[in-house]
Amino acid sequence: MLLEGKADSRCSTFITPMFLILITAFAAAVSGSFSLDGDKEVLMHLKSFIEEQNRVNRGRYVEWNQRSSNPCDWHGVLCSNGGARIIGLDLSDSKISGNIFNNFSALTELQYLDLSKNTLNGPVLDDLNRCHNLMYLNLSHNILEGELNLTGLTSLEKLDLSTNRFQGEVKFSLPEFCHRLVVANLSGNSFSGRLDYFDGCSNLQYLDLSSNSFGGNIWTGFARLIEFSLSGNYVTESVTASCFKENCSLQVLDLSENKFHGEVPVEISNCKNLVTLNLWGNDFSGPIPSVLGSVSTLEGLLLGNNRFSRVIPESLLNLKNLALLDLSKNSFGGEVQEIFGRFKWLKSLALHGNSYTDGLLSSGIHKLTNMSRLDLSYNNFSGGLPVEISRILGLEFLILAYNQFTGDIPFEYGDLSNLQVLDLSFNGLSGSIPASLGNLRSLLWLMLANNSLTGEIPLELGNCTSLLWLNLANNQLSGKFPLDLTNIGRNPNPTFESNRKRKLMNVGPTECLVAKRLLNMDYSPLRFVYTIFTMKTCRSIWDRLLKGYGFFQICAGGSLVREYMVSGFLQLSGNQITGDIPSDIGEMQHLSVLDFGSNEFSGEMPIELEKLSLLVLNVSGNRFSGRIPTEIGNIKCLQDLDLSQNNFSGIFPEELSKLTDLSNFNISFNPFIAGRIPVTGQLATFGKESFLGNPLLQIPNFILDGQLSPPSLSPPPPPPPSKSNDESEFWKALLTGYGCGMPFGVAMLCFTFRKREPNWFVTIVDGIHEWKAKRLLKRKLARRI
Ligand SMILES: *[C@@H]1O[C@H](CO)[C@@H](O)[C@H](O)[C@H]1NC(C)=O
Ligand SMILES: *[C@@H]1O[C@H](CO)[C@@H](O)[C@H](O)[C@H]1NC(C)=O
Ligand SMILES: *[C@@H]1O[C@H](CO)[C@@H](O)[C@H](O)[C@H]1NC(C)=O
Ligand SMILES: *[C@@H]1O[C@H](CO)[C@@H](O)[C@H](O)[C@H]1NC(C)=O
Ligand SMILES: *[C@@H]1O[C@H](CO)[C@@H](O)[C@H](O)[C@H]1NC(C)=O
Ligand SMILES: *[C@@H]1O[C@H](CO)[C@@H](O)[C@H](O)[C@H]1NC(C)=O
Ligand SMILES: *[C@@H]1O[C@H](CO)[C@@H](O)[C@H](O)[C@H]1NC(C)=O
Ligand SMILES: *[C@@H]1O[C@H](CO)[C@@H](O)[C@H](O)[C@H]1NC(C)=O
Ligand SMILES: *[C@@H]1O[C@H](CO)[C@@H](O)[C@H](O)[C@H]1NC(C)=O
Repeated sequence: MLLEGKADSRCSTFITPMFLILITAFAAAVSGSFSLDGDKEVLMHLKSFIEEQNRVNRGRYVEWNQRSSNPCDWHGVLCSNGGARIIGLDLSDSKISGNIFNNFSALTELQYLDLSKNTLNGPVLDDLNRCHNLMYLNLSHNILEGELNLTGLTSLEKLDLSTNRFQGEVKFSLPEFCHRLVVANLSGNSFSGRLDYFDGCSNLQYLDLSSNSFGGNIWTGFARLIEFSLSGNYVTESVTASCFKENCSLQVLDLSENKFHGEVPVEISNCKNLVTLNLWGNDFSGPIPSVLGSVSTLEGLLLGNNRFSRVIPESLLNLKNLALLDLSKNSFGGEVQEIFGRFKWLKSLALHGNSYTDGLLSSGIHKLTNMSRLDLSYNNFSGGLPVEISRILGLEFLILAYNQFTGDIPFEYGDLSNLQVLDLSFNGLSGSIPASLGNLRSLLWLMLANNSLTGEIPLELGNCTSLLWLNLANNQLSGKFPLDLTNIGRNPNPTFESNRKRKLMNVGPTECLVAKRLLNMDYSPLRFVYTIFTMKTCRSIWDRLLKGYGFFQICAGGSLVREYMVSGFLQLSGNQITGDIPSDIGEMQHLSVLDFGSNEFSGEMPIELEKLSLLVLNVSGNRFSGRIPTEIGNIKCLQDLDLSQNNFSGIFPEELSKLTDLSNFNISFNPFIAGRIPVTGQLATFGKESFLGNPLLQIPNFILDGQLSPPSLSPPPPPPPSKSNDESEFWKALLTGYGCGMPFGVAMLCFTFRKREPNWFVTIVDGIHEWKAKRLLKRKLARRI
């Protein structure tokens, strides 16, 4: 009686013993429902299945059956016209962890299933492959893994598998008959295999294969799509003329970061509707095709990181919609091509990494008054910084780092009131920091490190209320730490809010390079960020950051509860700054990195430091004296603490042993410090190089002998108290998901990064894990030596 109706008509011709076998198998496997009541029963099973795996933090499916007994009224449930059957389920963003439900196929009329933005893990079961009526399937943003078999879903029109851990060949994963498929997003997995599978998908329009493991040849059929992204794979072939058919309908073509070589065929101009062409990061050579000038719809042209020849075709000047031009890293050399100054409509120009020596003014780039982003870093420009740039009043990003500019920073740069990023670091700039920079109220980043700047830090910088990332390291700055400086970054919200309101320009891979530098990932304590910040994740991380959302979790001073917060830095190391650190520093609530190393600071360390959400505190190589504040022991998330080479005295505060996250610690060369290093707790896990030159300090013998502390002395830290009780569930899920066989590493991972926004978290957790594991290994090895 289960196989009446539809199934019956389907099978009625097989009246053979085979039929009996089939029907038995079918009944056992499907045993679906064929009425609304049956569907409802399935939903109730689904609900309890999910609830069993998610004991506390739950989505709106918990309301099912409470308000109405008609499932068509329930949140996320869609019924067919007349309410006869359930045809759609939307469980996206419903805080669901654990395995995928094993009986969706019992909803025999299901056409629409959205499970995106949860933390579902494990493999996708065969059950899903039996949902033959599915037209829409969205599994994106989970941690599902393994080889996927959806070959039975021949009705699919929209399929989103992005940001999971699927692997295997597409042709074994997707239906053989895919002529209904219109949208397929496989981005951010490890799919591989032949791309010509998609030949069969005659109605396909949007295909995103970015960040997978496809290699070999390109699929020549892509020109009939509207959007095609193959970014971040390992495809090597040249792109031939035959790829661009006469009726190419592409609007977005993204082949960036593969291994394409050869020339770009002129037939690309057959794509008359092209809006974005991204060929960044391949090995293309030869001329930039001048025919591109006839593609009047073009808004973004990204040709950076290739070996194109130097001549920029005049025809490109016809492109009245061209807003974004990236010709970075093409080794152009010599003078900046004069033509760039004539792209009047540009909003973003990236010419970094070209070994230019000259031609900044003669090219007239400074006359591109509509520009909001200009990146000329990593060239060989010398002489003074061009004052004229200060007339591009809409500039938001000005990046001139890594050149050989000399002389003063023009005070006129203080007129660039829309600036969010000013990066002049790694040049030969001298003179003092102009006070006019204090006018830059939207400034988030001020990067002036590694120049030869002198004089005092202007107190006017304190007016930069958005400034969260200030790096003045390795200059010759002197004078005191101005009290007003503690006002920087007090209220970045207006800048963040204006960024939230508009769609930020997607500047492509170049953005990732800029962001990496701005987040100072070369600075070793922040290197962990680097592992999170892959090409896969950088765009979304960067977007979040500019909108004021943190991308890793930190805890406020005294607290163990970690949250996503923007975390700024103040880097003053390698200068000659004198005097003490004002106690107002405790008000700099967004700071997570304080690096004052190698200066001439003196006086006592302010106890107010305990109020900050610090990850890094480095005061090494100064003249701090007095006691080490016991309050530092309250900065629970501190990872790096370097107090070496100062003149601290008094009794060493054993409270520092409570800093269970500490991975770098140094108290060396403080000859007047007395007391003892506790034999248990975190401090006992460091080697003797952390305790050099402290004659009065009692250091446990096993440290001095260079031995590992007994394992019982360094147990994995206990998980912190939870904000909500479902944390353990989450971790359980995560642990099963990762199954990394490294209990300590995982414990550390658990300890540091906790669930607040799991979907986001999922994309970065791999990186963190790797970093933690590496860090741990390094420390263990170090201790063995
Ligand atoms: C699936 O649901 C149907 C209908 O509610 C039920 O008969 C069947 O036993 C379920 N199968 C599994 C594997 O739970
Ligand atoms: C899948 O879900 C994600 C997140 O909910 C959404 O952003 C995306 O647009 C969906 N994909 C499709 C093809 O609808
Ligand atoms: C595919 O999914 C990724 C991640 O969810 C998203 O960033 C991308 O925009 C999607 N691609 C398309 C073409 O919608
Ligand atoms: C161009 O499109 C038409 C239908 O719109 C199709 O019949 C024809 O084969 C296409 N030409 C090429 C070269 O793909
Ligand atoms: C600059 O942009 C504005 C609108 O964004 C436009 O009206 C103006 O013509 C542009 N100027 C130039 C020189 O292109
Ligand atoms: C930055 O400056 C410091 C100190 O002057 C120097 O040791 C370091 O090598 C410089 N870094 C680079 C990348 O030039
Ligand atoms: C602290 O700063 C000093 C001097 O700038 C540097 O040598 C040392 O490596 C830093 N310590 C840590 C733990 O990063
Ligand atoms: C270092 O501290 C000791 C003990 O407090 C004090 O006697 C000495 O003068 C200090 N030295 C310097 C250079 O500040
Ligand atoms: C601690 O600092 C001293 C002096 O700055 C240095 O020699 C030593 O290598 C540092 N120890 C560690 C573990 O980095």
